[in-house]
Amino acid sequence: MKTFLLTVAACGLLLTGTAKEPLYRDPTAPLAERVDDLLSRMILREKLGQLSQPLYRSDDTTLDARITRGEVGSLVVAHGSALAPAERDRLQRIAVERSRLGIPVLFGFDVIHGYRTLFPIPLGIAASWNPELAEASARIAASEASACGIDLTFSPMVDVARDPRWGRISEGSGEDVLLNAVFGAALVRGYQGDDPSKQGRIGACVKHFVGYGAALGGRDYQFTELSERALRETYLPPFKACVDAGAVSVMSAFNDISGTPASANALTLDRILRKEWGFDGFVLSDWKAVTELQEHGIAADGAEAAVKALTAGVDMEMTSDLYLTTLEQSVREKRLPAALVDRAVRAVLRVKFRLGLFDRPFRSHPEPDRMLLTPEARRTARQLAAESMVLLKNDGVLPLSPDLRSITVTGEWAVSRDLYGWWVGMGDGRDAVTVWDGIRSQAGRRTDVRLMSQSRSRRSDVAVVCVGENGYLFGENNNRSDIRLPYGQEQLIRELKEQGNKVVVVVFNGRPLDLSAVVPYADALLIAWHPGTEAGNAVADLLFGKRSPSGRLPVSFPKSVGQLPLFYSDRTSGRPGNDRYVSMDGQPLFPFGYGLGYTTFEYSELRLSKSVAAPGEQVAAEITVTNTGGMKAKETVQLYLHDKAASFTRPARMLIDFRKVELAPGESRTVSFDVTPRQLAVLDAAFRPVVEAGEFEISAGGTPSELHSRILTLKR
Ligand code: GLC
Repeated sequence: MKTFLLTVAACGLLLTGTAKEPLYRDPTAPLAERVDDLLSRMILREKLGQLSQPLYRSDDTTLDARITRGEVGSLVVAHGSALAPAERDRLQRIAVERSRLGIPVLFGFDVIHGYRTLFPIPLGIAASWNPELAEASARIAASEASACGIDLTFSPMVDVARDPRWGRISEGSGEDVLLNAVFGAALVRGYQGDDPSKQGRIGACVKHFVGYGAALGGRDYQFTELSERALRETYLPPFKACVDAGAVSVMSAFNDISGTPASANALTLDRILRKEWGFDGFVLSDWKAVTELQEHGIAADGAEAAVKALTAGVDMEMTSDLYLTTLEQSVREKRLPAALVDRAVRAVLRVKFRLGLFDRPFRSHPEPDRMLLTPEARRTARQLAAESMVLLKNDGVLPLSPDLRSITVTGEWAVSRDLYGWWVGMGDGRDAVTVWDGIRSQAGRRTDVRLMSQSRSRRSDVAVVCVGENGYLFGENNNRSDIRLPYGQEQLIRELKEQGNKVVVVVFNGRPLDLSAVVPYADALLIAWHPGTEAGNAVADLLFGKRSPSGRLPVSFPKSVGQLPLFYSDRTSGRPGNDRYVSMDGQPLFPFGYGLGYTTFEYSELRLSKSVAAPGEQVAAEITVTNTGGMKAKETVQLYLHDKAASFTRPARMLIDFRKVELAPGESRTVSFDVTPRQLAVLDAAFRPVVEAGEFEISAGGTPSELHSRILTLKR
């Protein structure tokens, strides 16, 4: 009888041709129902497959079969390797058409500061203090990456970093909590837009959750000793800003957090990220971070590592395969509740639906090359590179006069194409504009411009000496115990000066450097970071005064590596002014927030809408800035706070807002900030934000040493 009924039903379907599509394939169905429907159809092995992100290797002969079996939820395309858009769609077609449930694969790649068009490294982007421009760069990066089949980028990196010895300080927005939060959220918005499923958008995976930048001694992967207060005041807020901006994924970090590794840490991954913040995307482990729980010494074997990571809240395992190879048995043996597997699978499926992968699994552009290196991309890269550069010294030699008789361009970075930092995406050095290209294109017609190798030299009106760090001297696990210019570049600078040249030093760096031995011989000193594809044009725009430099340091530049860690917003001490060494003070060579331009700005006194207010009231702070020089320029008005007496010690100064404004010569602008209860709050003993009565010093200005202050008193 049963066979008969099944046959009748099958015939009916054949005749009507209307086999009922399962709910999860219905794009009009609510997302949660599609997830539930699909989950209900999955067997355990397929579920564990969705939690696996192996490395894509073009020579992997088992990949097609594994995708067909539903054992590959996602693929990571590694740094330096490439996945052709056509190959990506071929693999996707196997997943969608051959696997039992047709669940699409999620393709992830490190689009860190551009895909083919490279923008400045993230530390340079932060130095622009221009989040709108940062967002534009991420939008372009997403457009290029999605055209080539990428669905998810492992960016933004928002690890607050205060030790320049750490190579990965180059990848985030520096030492400040607010800058990492503002730029992280801007990049998330740029990548995802208001709907990450739309053409030209990709998902953002914010990393490395959490505290990775506090690695002991600036040595990558080392443990971090962080109190919950330090986590909540300093390292977590940038991630919260990115989650609030809609990031679809978070990457759990390598580091141990005071005894519990970040990739097995229920406090951060579950209690804070999910229960307190309501994050409903998925958590991806960093590279092999799940299996490394064994090396951390909290798992006796791979099965225990997998159970601990998944239980804590790591949904998907990058490049190790313990979830797929051990969790079926762990579930069978009741060492892992099946419900926790379902929780993780739901998170992954939610993101795949949210990214539109089920409804539009084939994303590559038919002619992807047309989407790369567009004029708009190059224009944006040039502007962002120029705005990222920070002028630290200028005796008046800049901007260079078009009437100069002779310019010598020298140093390794005069013609180097090593301008993309450590993460290079799909960047090709041949796309880059070198400094030599840029200077030649803008020098005065009557100026004799020569490229001189470092060995030879000549006496000229100006010597532009281009020095720096190679991309392999920073980035992942490229930590330096000596942060001066490498391989004797200081000597080249000194010799040029001693020959009687006016010396303009341009530095291509990935971290704050100890430039103490450079400053005396530099008539001008410009920090260019690794500025990306339009490097040479951006440098020339600034050297010849097409634009005034407007970058401000997102990180302190120390006098010596011996001062590290060194950052502006450290907690007060019981003996202020004793922050020093026997042979050196505790102040940076160049402070956070500092930078020069080709004009001057004057500030009014700071005005508060009220000097006495009740806790919880909003107060406005206003200041008027005037361009008192002769050139149009951008200025970043910075607003700082010091809570003079609170239940817990607070930073001596903390950036709470900033505004970058462009002013013509003689033009004034009144900049108004809202000082909100959230900014004034301190975390109480239970880490709840509370606004306490007392005095708050509010200060504003364009450079840290010249701030205008007012006292705000909160009274009950
Ligand atoms: C690396 C990095 C992480 C990167 C990932 C994929 O080890 O720690 O930042 O996104 O692996 O390349």
